[in-house]
Amino acid sequence: MASAHTLGWEVLGFIDGYEGLLSPVNYKILTLENTQGIMPSGGTIIGTTNRGRFVAKQGLGEKALIPQPIIDEAKKTLQDLGVRALICIGGDGSLTTADQLFENGVSVVGVPKTIDNDLSATATTFGFDSAVQCVADALDRLHTTAASHKRVMVLEVMGRHAGWIALYGGLAGGADVILIPEIPFSYERLAAHVEKRMSSGAASTLIVAAEGASPMGQGVSTLEGATKGEVRLGGIGAQVAYEIGERTKRETRTVVLGHLQRGGAPTTQDRNLGTRFGVGAVQLIQEKKFGCMVSYLNYQIGAVTIKEAVGQIKHVPPDGQMVVTAKAVGINFGT
Ligand code: F6P
Repeated sequence: MASAHTLGWEVLGFIDGYEGLLSPVNYKILTLENTQGIMPSGGTIIGTTNRGRFVAKQGLGEKALIPQPIIDEAKKTLQDLGVRALICIGGDGSLTTADQLFENGVSVVGVPKTIDNDLSATATTFGFDSAVQCVADALDRLHTTAASHKRVMVLEVMGRHAGWIALYGGLAGGADVILIPEIPFSYERLAAHVEKRMSSGAASTLIVAAEGASPMGQGVSTLEGATKGEVRLGGIGAQVAYEIGERTKRETRTVVLGHLQRGGAPTTQDRNLGTRFGVGAVQLIQEKKFGCMVSYLNYQIGAVTIKEAVGQIKHVPPDGQMVVTAKAVGINFGT
């Protein structure tokens, strides 16, 4: 195993993701000097976008073809610069684009990066653990204020159509109720559970609601301002607080954690995962395993095809060990 640096490879970082491949071509040569010290930084030093001219995925599973002239221009840029392989780092949308570039003859390898942890064929993606940490920190803070005022607190968290962030963050932060997209809930049962807790002396009730969670038979809550066909999820936290307040007459409050989950220093687990994925991606290039993505399975970095990873969203199994464990310690799922 080796890093690009130890192999003597030159590494170009295209600015703003795939957009940097198009005129005016924009990249930065990444060296040890200009990347030193970035480990504790959130975000990315080369920018990112999956909303530009390369959008290959719209909404839940709908594929959009990237126009051929765009693909041809990107290929020409790579050829002119003598780029031997393109490492695409991102979630479902960015890796769907990567796969289309691969199908068009570009030597692509993928690295799974999304806080949502919703990519198939990998146990985890980097960014996820840091988002979970942020949720647990928020719950730690909410516990004391909720208990002081004997309130019901609803914390709305990200994750799109998967409940991983809510489930892992909620369990780590001692939530009393977790609502996830994979387990549709009932307002009646949720309110009954909250009332039972509060009337039997609980100082507070903390509810974590995934932004994609929804009551049985109803669709997801969305916000204004869809971009390129991707709906913006949000609003379920306020809705849950309102419905519980109406039914129980208890004081309820909502916190939307939002983009705080996407900033700040990464956890040690994400730092190590990112480094391992980086070395793994270099190995895929050495072995010419193009069209593949590094994955993390059974504590090992391995390779899967990008197609396997983006084919379908990885949902929380409703009867899986994490949900069963949460139920075992008394966490309610609104059912
Ligand atoms: O996919 C990552 C994610 O943070 C989702 O959890 C969330 O729904 C979405 O992106 C928010 O996107 P934006 O930053 O465009 O509002």
